[in-house]
Amino acid sequence: MAEILAVGEAMKRALALLEGGEVVAIPTETVYGLAGDATSGAAVARIFEAKGRPRFNPLIAHVADLAMAERIAVFDPLSTKLAKAFWPGPLTLVLPQRPENGIHPLVTAGLDTIALRMPRGFGGGLIARLGRPLAAPSANSSGRISATTAQAVAADLGGKIKLVVDGGATPVGLESTIVKIEDGKLKLLRPGGIAAEEIEAVAGVELVRGAAGIEAPGMLASHYAPGASMRLNVGRIASGEALLAFGRDRAEGWQNAVAVRNLSETGDLREAATNLFAYMQALDRSGAATIAVEPIPFDGLGEAINDRLARAAAPRDKIE
Ligand code: TXA
Ligand code: MG
Repeated sequence: MAEILAVGEAMKRALALLEGGEVVAIPTETVYGLAGDATSGAAVARIFEAKGRPRFNPLIAHVADLAMAERIAVFDPLSTKLAKAFWPGPLTLVLPQRPENGIHPLVTAGLDTIALRMPRGFGGGLIARLGRPLAAPSANSSGRISATTAQAVAADLGGKIKLVVDGGATPVGLESTIVKIEDGKLKLLRPGGIAAEEIEAVAGVELVRGAAGIEAPGMLASHYAPGASMRLNVGRIASGEALLAFGRDRAEGWQNAVAVRNLSETGDLREAATNLFAYMQALDRSGAATIAVEPIPFDGLGEAINDRLARAAAPRDKIE
């Protein structure tokens, strides 16, 4: 089983493992990541293996600073502006790769673009000390709910990795927002921990939704799937269902729910984002066959919350 070490005591051990081409689960401000040296084919292969992730689905490379990012990819002025405004933080930029940037092609599934982000907290210091970028997908089995605590990582992947660095519950709770400039347009590839409106305010242009293309791998299919099936936007709870609630007003029949978690009593979408994955897991553990979810508004972080819920509810034959 994986060792769990608190951030304050984990740096040396994490560095030694990464230098040896091993993978380490680390906290970031969004969700826990399963990190490996992005320049090592062996390390990156271990990430795919531990997650059971299809190799055509590329990973995000995490950097310590803008200089490291600029050695890996070519920045246009708007991407630089967004990086300066939101890094470190929950924004991932997809950019053209520089030739011979040292990134192992497994990271990008052979694409000529690369997804980059600068995480807050432990990860940033770790990358700076390693001196190399870390490839890190969310630290969960492919297709399953992303982990927001060290305990959730250990429960899912503990038998496959040596170390989980425990930084407590992740503050944002949703993965990063992914954007890409293409054909002169700023495209939203994945809604996430920074609301689209915030990015638009800095960019001065509107984000284009519904982008297709390579961005597709694993992005529309079933993902974030709990064991239970999911029923969204419910106005009435059937007996035997678990209830994922939001706000002050309850759906009809809520008293019949076998378990209830409220994402935010006050209707705060930021709080709801932080709680989303942990509450889905808790309701899944209740043993209910179905988790019924009350309607959640689409503004701000609601866009990303609704995106994750829709994928959790998608037909399971399409897992990643
Ligand atoms: O917050 C996050 O982003 C977390 C933490 C650990 O940093 N990471 C994360 O990684 O969510 P992952 O692997 O679960 O999701 C990365 C997404 C995938 O949907 C992948 O298809 C997309 O990024 N992606 C990676 N490289 C890409 C590229 N070159 N073009 C388009 N999409 C890309
Ligand atoms: Mg993921």
